[in-house]
Amino acid sequence: MTSAAEVTRTAAAPTSTSATTDPGAPPTRAWRGSPAGTGIRRSVRLFNACRREPADPDGFYSLLAGDSVDQVSRYASLLDASVLDVGGGPGYFRRAFNAAGASYVWVEADVDELLARGVREPGSVLGSALALPFHDGSFDVCYSSNVLEHVTDPWLMASEMIRVTRPGGLVFLTFTNWLSPWGGHETSPWHYLGGGYALRRYERRRKVAAKNRFGSSLFQISVAEALEWARGREDVQLLDARPRYLPEWAKPVLGVPGVRELVTWNLTLVMRRG
Ligand SMILES: C[S@@+](CC[C@H](N)C(=O)[O-])C[C@H]1O[C@@H](n2cnc3c(N)ncnc32)[C@H](O)[C@@H]1O
Repeated sequence: MTSAAEVTRTAAAPTSTSATTDPGAPPTRAWRGSPAGTGIRRSVRLFNACRREPADPDGFYSLLAGDSVDQVSRYASLLDASVLDVGGGPGYFRRAFNAAGASYVWVEADVDELLARGVREPGSVLGSALALPFHDGSFDVCYSSNVLEHVTDPWLMASEMIRVTRPGGLVFLTFTNWLSPWGGHETSPWHYLGGGYALRRYERRRKVAAKNRFGSSLFQISVAEALEWARGREDVQLLDARPRYLPEWAKPVLGVPGVRELVTWNLTLVMRRG
């Protein structure tokens, strides 16, 4: 078990868990800022960067990181805040959170993902989202992007995020819902005919193994069940629920059963721990 303060204290020590504000890092050299705002221009920038992701992953993740900082900052100050990112891959978002003044730690379960950029960046912790290796109430902000749909028990992961957030702290959880046009990830849009079928079709045609495998590393989560889960928790206040990439004016779609599953694309839940 590790607390945020303990992680920070270990920063100078040559341990495998280091951290956090990394003041020496060039804060924005590889980070191209954020798409800014909540309007249609932001959405178009994000979707365009997403389409170009295979050719320019750094461009996409830099933009997404900046956007994440912008979005989280709408609900909590990041200056001097301790932030845990659950399922942070190789640390795509580290510089953006550090540049906003936060001390940033991330948990990642897959060592290959941790090392995907060729180096293990400071602030990483090898561990599982389903049993976060931190004490209760360790962080001001617990953030997770596009991980919930990859774990076997999403509501255990979400509960863990609440547990490690201090009372009054923020839980910011965003994920791709199954009936989103991107619900099947690289097997989309064939997931609409079934996740197993989409996976078999992808692998038969491409003759490569899919990275996201329905039933083992990709699972179905609906907008309806996520909203029900969040509203049913007595230890958090649901501050906001919104389609992550869509403009602010698209938010009312979350009140329309059925349609919301198809158009939300990616659902953000913002909760304050009681
Ligand atoms: C689609 S990537 C998202 C990366 C980053 N958060 C983002 O938004 O770009 C999903 C990440 O979650 C990680 N992951 C999957 N299951 C996990 C678990 N049980 N605990 C921690 N990380 C996990 C994967 O290894 C992968 O790095």
